[in-house]
Amino acid sequence: MTDVLTPARTQTLWADRFAQRTERMTSSVIRELLKLLEDPEIISFAGGLPAPEVFPRERIELAARRVLEEHGDSALQYGATEGYRPLRELLVRHMGRYGIGVGPENVLVTTGAQQALDLVGKLLINPGDHVATEEPTYLGAVQAFTSYQAEYLTVPVDDDGMRVDALEDVLRAAPKFMYVLPNFQNPGGVTLSLDRRRRLVELAERYGTPVIEDDPYGQLRYEGDHLPPLVKLDADRSGCAHGERSFRGHVLYLGTLSKTLAPGLRIGWVVAPEEVIVKLAQMKQGADLHTSTFAQMVAYETARGGFLDRHVRRIRAVYRARRDVMLAGLQQHFPASVRWTRPQGGLFLWVTLPDAADAAALLPLALAEKVAFVPGAAFHPRGGGGNTFRLNFSYCTPDVILEGIRRLGAVLRRHL
Ligand SMILES: Cc1ncc(COP(=O)(O)O)c(C=O)c1O
Repeated sequence: MTDVLTPARTQTLWADRFAQRTERMTSSVIRELLKLLEDPEIISFAGGLPAPEVFPRERIELAARRVLEEHGDSALQYGATEGYRPLRELLVRHMGRYGIGVGPENVLVTTGAQQALDLVGKLLINPGDHVATEEPTYLGAVQAFTSYQAEYLTVPVDDDGMRVDALEDVLRAAPKFMYVLPNFQNPGGVTLSLDRRRRLVELAERYGTPVIEDDPYGQLRYEGDHLPPLVKLDADRSGCAHGERSFRGHVLYLGTLSKTLAPGLRIGWVVAPEEVIVKLAQMKQGADLHTSTFAQMVAYETARGGFLDRHVRRIRAVYRARRDVMLAGLQQHFPASVRWTRPQGGLFLWVTLPDAADAAALLPLALAEKVAFVPGAAFHPRGGGGNTFRLNFSYCTPDVILEGIRRLGAVLRRHL
């Protein structure tokens, strides 16, 4: 018989050839457990999913039809790597309302903000380079940066976001860049105060450390005043706001339409100085040539004419109500020894159990009661956080949130 690829031989054929950088890329036990979420009876506070009820279906349907009828040839054709020009112009106007003054030449459309994180990793990280992050931080960023063999330096977080007083020590160790989530952080739900934002950009300047500002939730604020993004504070310091001189500075800003329109569109973007956009576009060409032309044109047709702002106002009202229901449920059902954050916006809040508790060990018990969360250890790139977990409040309806929190409270009372 000729050579047959038995399972064992297939294993050596492929696994022996996986690149070194794949060694630390494993799927966790938690992810395996969370696969159980396909069970429709489970109340899931685990994902970061927007509420499907607020997806602007009709508007997207109309937009898709118009794109095909009026621009079918270009919508189904290859497009520019930087992105669809009218969409980039719309994003520039939209960001302008949140204080970010840049031009379309400073915007690269990406396939979700997740691709922007990957491209940033591809652009900046050599194996063994250190990245400074908050602790806890966004798991998807850690996955992206780890695939380029990053190491981590972490800065703790409190109710006012990253503890910038602890940042200077980390910057002295010369990380390649820092990755920061100033608004309603995923996973902590906390927001970086204005004083700390100012201090952070000062430190970035002093130590010459680039900042990656990831801001998927900034517009989803349910109370309090909008705070200026780091990219604006930095541009103000160096007098580089668009219109004065060309935009440059220490901060790359990442945005997305995933939480404000729909994640299925896969539209994100990076704001950067032009020379960085050129380099990122080269990285992107190797990844996917460009983000779906059709999706970009549909996103543009959907968002234009003030719709995006109107829709964001609507979502805010829905999510604010869900946050309030979850907070009230926690107050009512969780044991007194448990603490949680009170987010001013976004999709998540963060629960801290007594020191000795093990959230990962509680997850199977919660799943047995048909309720799910994400244990906090996954968000700690240097370990720790075993007594914490993340809850999402955007996905479930208010009644379901209350029932889920009641079930989770019962699990905690029984097992803590
Ligand atoms: C902090 C953060 N960054 C990036 C992303 C990725 O978003 P996108 O859907 O735009 O890829 C998410 C998604 O949950 C996120 O929470």
